[in-house]
Amino acid sequence: MVTSMIKRIALALTTALMAALMTAPAMAQSAKARATAKVDLDARFKEAQTNLKLADDLYKVGRKVAAVCANCHGDGGNSTKPSIPNLAGQNPAYLLEQLRQFADGRRRNEFMEGMIRAMDSDEKIGMVLFYAAQDVTHKPAANAALATKGQEYFEKTCFRCHGNGGRGNEQIARIAGQQPDYLRLTLKRYRDGAGVRANSIMTPNTKLMTDADIEAVVAYVSSMP
Ligand code: HEC
Ligand code: HEC
Repeated sequence: MVTSMIKRIALALTTALMAALMTAPAMAQSAKARATAKVDLDARFKEAQTNLKLADDLYKVGRKVAAVCANCHGDGGNSTKPSIPNLAGQNPAYLLEQLRQFADGRRRNEFMEGMIRAMDSDEKIGMVLFYAAQDVTHKPAANAALATKGQEYFEKTCFRCHGNGGRGNEQIARIAGQQPDYLRLTLKRYRDGAGVRANSIMTPNTKLMTDADIEAVVAYVSSMP
């Protein structure tokens, strides 16, 4: 059963890769299917928070799903590719919301949309429980002077929402220790209104950032423990 699950997700990976290569348009789900999926996910996530046995079972499912995700997101969600985000230590409710956004088109990424179509609700809940429980590998700043500049910027604005330690909360991403290229790309996309993440509160919050501000903040944030 587990083998077939991994096969199904691995197949989705191949399909997503092929779709991206052929730039095929992503299949749109019906509005009704989306609405149902949302209710099911919320209810199941809540259930897992109060039922320890269920949480434990789903965690094990999540650990198996993560074997497929590791191709890109690294073992235990510590990505080894600077442009692909860590999932380790991320808030589970934030992760779940991102899966939902990839599924309903508010957030666009062809690989991820394909992956998520292949996952059922227990695999999604299990995956977020698994990744939230993994530790982020600390990477010291390569350029300490630049990181100090970034810290000043962070402590003027970013800390208000992401917290002093950059750990976020249910609605706000953990950014501490995140991959530098991913941070840079994501901040520029928000600032420039690239439209891959709909209606983000980050757009007004990055509007005034220069490329130099972004470089400094990336140096600091990616080195936060
Ligand atoms: C082919 C590579 C690839 C694979 C395999 C893959 N991902 Fe991703 N994933 C990405 C990329 C690239 C992004 C960043 C998308 C963007 O730029 O917004 C991403 C983003 C995410 C995010 C959002 C993270 C954030 O910080 O907002 C989540 C959650 C996620 N992936 C979960 C998964 C899960 C679960 C699996 C396995 C079932 C998986 N991914 C497999 C490439 C991959
Ligand atoms: C008003 C609150 C607020 C402020 C201020 C803020 N953020 Fe955010 N940030 C969010 C929220 C909410 C998200 C969740 C995703 C979204 O809405 O796009 C987020 C997401 C992000 C992400 C994407 C994380 C991921 O895993 O994909 C990055 C990177 C980020 N913020 C960096 C920053 C930096 C750097 C600053 C300071 C310049 C900052 N944020 C200021 C609220 C805020």
